[in-house]
This record gives sequence, C-alpha cells and structure tokens, in this order.
Amino acid sequence: MGHNLLKGKRGIIFGALDELSIAWKTAERAHEEGATFVLTNAPIAMRMGKINELAAKTGSEIIPADATDEADLEALVSKSMEILGGKIDFVLHSIGMSVNVRKGREYTDQKYDWTAKGWDVSALSFHKVMQTLYKADAMSEWGSILALTYMAAQRTFPDYNDMADNKAYLESIARSFGYFFGTEKKVRVNTISQSPTPTTAGKGVKGFDAFINYAEKMSPLGNATASECADYSITLFSDLTRKVTMQNLFHDGGFSSTGVSQQIIDSFSE
Ligand code: NAI
Repeated sequence: MGHNLLKGKRGIIFGALDELSIAWKTAERAHEEGATFVLTNAPIAMRMGKINELAAKTGSEIIPADATDEADLEALVSKSMEILGGKIDFVLHSIGMSVNVRKGREYTDQKYDWTAKGWDVSALSFHKVMQTLYKADAMSEWGSILALTYMAAQRTFPDYNDMADNKAYLESIARSFGYFFGTEKKVRVNTISQSPTPTTAGKGVKGFDAFINYAEKMSPLGNATASECADYSITLFSDLTRKVTMQNLFHDGGFSSTGVSQQIIDSFSE
C-alpha cells in the first residue's frame, strides 16, 4: 500500500536483474509511492530480458549503462533528465560483482586484474555515478543518493573475499562525496548495510545457505528481507529523512550489535 511518500519525485535505479534483486523490489515500492524513474543495468544483464517486465509494470524506461563507463553514465544522466522532465531526486546504486568470488579464487590467492575489475564495478562505480551527477548538476536540492553494502566492511567474514574491501571503499566514498554533495548541492548520500539476502549476487558467496541461517539465528528481529530493504530505501528517498547523510545504516534485524544469541549458544550445548 502506497502513502505517496515519493509523489512527484524522479529517480534512477541501478541493478534490477530479476525479481529477487533488491533494486527490483525497490523499483516496485518506489512506483507504489508515486515516483517516476529510469531503470538501468549493464548491457550484458539486459540480454536476460527480465527488466522489461519491471519496466512495463512500473511504466519506466530502460537505459542500458555499464556503471564503470563514464560515457555511458553521462548519456544515462542526460537522457534520464530528458525522459523524466527535470533534475533527479533519488538514485539507487545496487551493484556488486567480484570476479574472484565468481571464479572461486580465495582471498589469499587473488588474481589482481580480477580484483581491480570487481573494485571498479562494486566500489569505484559509485564515485563515477556521483561525479557524473555532480558535474551535470543533475540532482535536485534535498535529493538522496543511496548504495547497498554489507557488514564485512567492518568485520571479517572469510568467504566474503575481496567484496569486503570493495564495500569498505564504497562506504568511504559515501562519506567523502556526501560532504561535497551536502555543502554544495544539499543532497544526501548514505549506504544501507543489509542482511544476507538470497539474490543472484548474494547466493554467489561461498557457504551462503549456512551463513544466512546463522545470521537469522543471530539477529533478534531475524534477517531483513529484500522487500524490507526496499521499504527502508523509500524512507531514505522521501522528505522524512532530509538531514540523514554520510551514514552507513545497518538494516539487519540487530545482527551487527549482537555478540551472540541464545539460539546460537543453545546450538553449541546440544
Ligand atoms: P543482484 O545480483 O540482483 O544485483 C546486482 C546487480 O549488479 C545486477 O543487476 C547486475 O547486473 C549489476 N551489475 C553488475 N555489474 C554491473 C555493471 N558493470 N554496471 C551496472 N550494473 C552492474 O543482487 P543484489 O543482492 O540485489 O545486489 C544489490 C546490492 O546489494 C549489491 O551492492 C550487493 O553487494 C548488495 N548487498 C547484497 C546482499 C545480499 O546478501 N544479497 C547483502 C548486502 C548487500
């Protein structure tokens, strides 16, 4: 049920691959809340064709863009303003990929050109997206820019591999760019640190099934789902959170503040 929280707002949503994607759920919720937006993903992801369903459902146009390619991003931003009829109020960066993870290379055995590629896609792309918006003066005052991250940026989870380092870099970019976007354009920049979520990117992490069960038992409120992450994102795009910026916001049912839960203790005394 919508509350018109985003009525009249224009957005760009990166990263809806299929109906499991966090970006997919966020696009559906943004539509319910009255937003209009452009959907974008890497040209290679378009071939799967799924995003067309989402575009039809939400009355959105799709503009392919590789988030590591500055020329693609420039074209995306200017075309989006044309299509949507003005400056952009919200942007979701929901992009992540590690070649080392994909190809099963351990953290202690990185292939560095793969590490660099994963960093470019998962972390530096956030800077590229923001720099493009900033230079084009494409964000409306009191706009909101958001990226998704994971707690492996603060604490070690061995199977998260080089994505841990990418997320640490991504979170730092949010703070650094948030300063300039805040002082010069009154735009906020945040990251949401989300629970493990069964999506294509999530399930790519080794040992994901065991880990998501562990996180569920460790979190007083249970794991946050993709739909709940979409709900939280909507609040951050709305006018109800105008002074929240340069923050890494945990959305994890309490996992990050829990030392150990009774359920986990009990599983050791069985
Ligand atoms: P997903 O696999 O549905 O989405 C990842 C997206 O990144 C895909 O749409 C993919 O096409 C896009 N992408 C990859 N390379 C790209 C490029 N060069 N240019 C543009 N787009 C590109 O998975 P999910 O889980 O929805 O991922 C979204 C975000 O949430 C990622 O940043 C991920 O790291 C983060 N996250 C996911 C968690 C999980 O357990 N699934 C937990 C915490 C954060």
